[in-house]
Amino acid sequence: MVPRVGLLGFGGVGRSLAQQLATISGAPRIVFALSSKGGVLVEGAGDLDALLELARSDKKLDGHPRFKQGLGLWEALEEAGDVDLVFVTLPPSYETGEPNLSIYRGLLDRGIGFITADKTGLARDYWGLREKARTRGAFMGYRATVAAGTPAIDLMRGLRGRPVERVRGVLNSTTNYILTMVEEGRSFQEAISRAVEEKLAEPDPRVDTHGLDAAAKITILACELGYRLDVTQVRRAPLEEVGEERVRDVIKQGYRVKYVAVFDASEKRASVRPVILPQTDPLARSSGVINVVDVEVENEHVTLTGPAGPAWRTARTMITDYLEYIGERNPRS
Ligand SMILES: NC(=O)c1ccc[n+]([C@@H]2O[C@H](COP(=O)([O-])OP(=O)(O)OC[C@H]3O[C@@H](n4cnc5c(N)ncnc54)[C@H](OP(=O)(O)O)[C@@H]3O)[C@@H](O)[C@H]2O)c1
Repeated sequence: MVPRVGLLGFGGVGRSLAQQLATISGAPRIVFALSSKGGVLVEGAGDLDALLELARSDKKLDGHPRFKQGLGLWEALEEAGDVDLVFVTLPPSYETGEPNLSIYRGLLDRGIGFITADKTGLARDYWGLREKARTRGAFMGYRATVAAGTPAIDLMRGLRGRPVERVRGVLNSTTNYILTMVEEGRSFQEAISRAVEEKLAEPDPRVDTHGLDAAAKITILACELGYRLDVTQVRRAPLEEVGEERVRDVIKQGYRVKYVAVFDASEKRASVRPVILPQTDPLARSSGVINVVDVEVENEHVTLTGPAGPAWRTARTMITDYLEYIGERNPRS
């Protein structure tokens, strides 16, 4: 049976996802798409064509001829009937995890699975969601929540049960970008303003520079290894704490400053802070959108390097989750 799926969010990732879902083998049937102001119940081929046209031309959902103002998730699920899976591309919610967390819980309570790119719900209540998903037999896909484009979550899965000592990661591309500008002579204030102007940093740049984003990601990685951590337990020091002069001075001595998220498995503690690393350290070599995860296990290092984002790659990573979902429903497909 072809899975019936909804799209919750129709921004950069959601639009790319709609296009990619329409073309893959084993494509699902998209039965609704929602944005912050309302949405569309996709009932016929014309509705889908209009949705895909909006996605291709990078336009908002309210440009759809059958856009229903105020249509929300629970109503859309009711109206569409028999929805198997919802693709969630909502903005992150760092303060409280809401409304995202209630959405995940509500879906799982209804036995509906989700594939998400938002990290904030899982970072707040990974284990609660996992338990709900297990008891309801619902699927949870979240590869895109950490280093989307690089299978960091899969790396953790592959190391479960091994005596992992420490996980370190450069998991936030924006701070890489800011640090590069500071290395080149700009002040932190200038570099951060520039990152906001270029829309690389959130309008509130503290999401990146005070470690909220990286804290959510290291929490998910630790949980994926089997540890019980929630994001409020992660200690965070602001990026600027290291000082501009230091960022520049250490380069001459063969070091580099990076904003590093660490999970120490023996102490079950996590932190995000600026760290001075020898330039030979794989984390020191990350720059731009390149993320690095380094795991210390059995006195060796397992290291993964690769791109995070942009939107199309994040959507593609959600398709990887979807292929896993199809495989679970029908292993011979
Ligand atoms: N972009 C990337 O490369 C990347 C990489 C990894 C993870 N992510 C994560 O992926 C998620 C989506 O990113 P994005 O770049 O696609 O964000 P975006 O462009 O801001 O899109 C967010 C979408 O969610 C909709 N929305 C907001 N609140 C809603 C609500 N309460 N109910 C229904 N829809 C709502 C927005 O509606 P409107 O259209 O009305 O504004 C918009 O369509 C984020 O959590 C982000 O952190 C993104």
